[in-house]
Amino acid sequence: MAPVQAQAVPVTSDSSIVAEKVRDGIDLEINGEHYRHTGDPQMPLLWYLRDILRLTGTKYAGGHDSTGADLVLIDGNAVSAITQPMAKLADKSVTTVEGLAANDGGLHPVQQAFIDEDAIGCGYCTPGWLIASVDLLKRKPHPTDDDIDQLPNLCRCGCQTRVRRAIKRVAAGKVSQL
Ligand code: FES
Repeated sequence: MAPVQAQAVPVTSDSSIVAEKVRDGIDLEINGEHYRHTGDPQMPLLWYLRDILRLTGTKYAGGHDSTGADLVLIDGNAVSAITQPMAKLADKSVTTVEGLAANDGGLHPVQQAFIDEDAIGCGYCTPGWLIASVDLLKRKPHPTDDDIDQLPNLCRCGCQTRVRRAIKRVAAGKVSQL
């Protein structure tokens, strides 16, 4: 029997294919999109959101004495983004204020309630209030004034009373245009 000849593998000349190693990093999900952070693992999440992703809704709210404007949802729970180094966020799911609305642009009920109750002054604190409200309503679907007053959020424009009304409006199912 004649010996079997090895077949030569054709070499592609497609210059659009670039061999690339996968860089090590911290994989996480933010507003439903997958990201890999390859920089300093100690970078606070707040800087990653604002400076790298340009998601500037989440605001600086002081260091570890947070006034709530830097709250995001991490695996569904409200957490201060300045206190979270990227190293702690591997495989976590982060939702910022930009991720609250539906994919078709429809507002989250809490967002609509803040509009309904005119609970927005200058707006600096609003993203944090929205995130805190989502978290609170998940834990306590019918929160009391006391529950709301215990949130870490502060509003220097004096919107607390209207914020209370907005949260209670969601709890009562009275949000308009849903
Ligand atoms: Fe201005 Fe709250 S709306 S700080």
